[in-house]
Amino acid sequence: MDALSSFIGLSYIVAASLFIIGLKSMSSPATARRGNLIGAIGMFIAIVVTLLDRQIVSFSWIIIGIIIGSIIGALSARLVKMTAMPEMVGIFNGFGGGASALVAIAEFVSLTSKAALPMDTAITTIIGVIIGGITFSGSMLAFMKLKGMVSGSPITFPLQKVVSALVFLGAVVLGVIITGWKPDPLLFYIIVGLSLIYGVLFVIPIGGADMPVVISLLNSFSGLAACAAGFVVKNNVLIIAGSLVGSAGLILTQIMCKAMNRSLTNVLFSAFGTGDMAAGSTSTTGDKTVKSVDAEEAAMIMGYAQSVIIVPGYGMAAAQAQHAVRELSELLQSRGVEVKFAIHPVAGRMPGHMNVLLAEANVPYTLLHDMDDINPEFPHTDVALVIGANDVVNPVARHDQGSPIYGMPILDVDKAHHVIIIKRSLNPGFAGIDNELFYDPKTMMFFGSAKDKVQELVAEIKKL
Ligand code: TAP
Repeated sequence: MDALSSFIGLSYIVAASLFIIGLKSMSSPATARRGNLIGAIGMFIAIVVTLLDRQIVSFSWIIIGIIIGSIIGALSARLVKMTAMPEMVGIFNGFGGGASALVAIAEFVSLTSKAALPMDTAITTIIGVIIGGITFSGSMLAFMKLKGMVSGSPITFPLQKVVSALVFLGAVVLGVIITGWKPDPLLFYIIVGLSLIYGVLFVIPIGGADMPVVISLLNSFSGLAACAAGFVVKNNVLIIAGSLVGSAGLILTQIMCKAMNRSLTNVLFSAFGTGDMAAGSTSTTGDKTVKSVDAEEAAMIMGYAQSVIIVPGYGMAAAQAQHAVRELSELLQSRGVEVKFAIHPVAGRMPGHMNVLLAEANVPYTLLHDMDDINPEFPHTDVALVIGANDVVNPVARHDQGSPIYGMPILDVDKAHHVIIIKRSLNPGFAGIDNELFYDPKTMMFFGSAKDKVQELVAEIKKL
């Protein structure tokens, strides 16, 4: 081994270690930013070293790619809103999968034009192109569903599962034929087409609001595709980075499913949820009584309380109320009220959604408490202030076996002395079901958009 290869091998180990340290650091809000930076440094080292390693004929296309990619990356980081993160991750996954598929296609074309295709390269090339193709088309469709360019409702048709299974099987069978007998470019391009079709069939029956889970799964696929591409071009750091993305995406998918008390098959095949990312549209007042409050009364209750737990949900994100919420928490604290935030693992529409929004508004992360830690505190808390959360505080999850959310762990806000809920109506949330908390005698509905209502509360508390 010459000195350059030793240097490259060593640099790849450093880059891979930085990826792992970066990922670990991202598991806490206190170290997440540093983790991001550490991961980025690892990637920088990996790219620079790879450019030294390969016998690059011309740098011009690479430089053009780096410039275009850097501009898109920098603009996305600055311009994309926090609430649009799932879309951004979705489209980036698609590009990752597409890039891996293109690497596999290029390698297939170059090898079959020169000589016979070695068995190991054939296997990894076909795996790369199948997973990459599925990831590309599936992620693009997920992106369009989230953006509203395609209906967010689950789209199903007769024999859908059979058709999907046949398309996937077709790609695998052709892959076996290419590997074992006939490295025919036509068969290879049919595999590319079938993989793209399967990606669409995979995502189309899933409701728009379940997209974050699917995007996390597609993220895992994009890692596996990159890993396969790493085997194709024999690049160790790509194999390691791909495996890390593949396993991290799978773990996140599993965490999200567990927190919703749903299996992955239920997410993928049950056409669950109201479809669109927007809140549902059916109002269910029935003959049940609902108590409402105005800003003045809500301010009196909270301003003179000893302890308040704020429970944010999707509505806080939709209304971009996080800065007003931070102001409210500081104001209450300045009056001697003990303020804590209760964070449900699937509040909002993406993992860590509430943590990210509250961090953006500079709410100290020491005030944020996970569900398991905060639940025992509700019974001795004066006020639970629910801001745009619905499913994650619905007590039916505890006792109604027929409910679609039965068994999902919830925040026990109904155990607090008073409950104030800020939302615009009695409409359901993501799961599309009525919330019995609205009709609890100690609940007061403070109707309106979250940002306006929190600002009104702040103004009224200042008058006390
Ligand atoms: P949801 O149950 O979806 O309820 C959100 C509520 O916010 C709606 O009922 C809506 O009521 C209200 N809202 C919307 N815009 C508002 C605004 N501008 N101002 C005030 N309120 C507004 O939210 P949640 O409690 O956060 O639960 C999350 C749900 O998403 C769970 O069912 C979870 O399983 C699911 N989910 C989560 C994830 C992740 S990873 N977080 C991924 C996929 C699915 P109004 O229309 O009456 O205002």
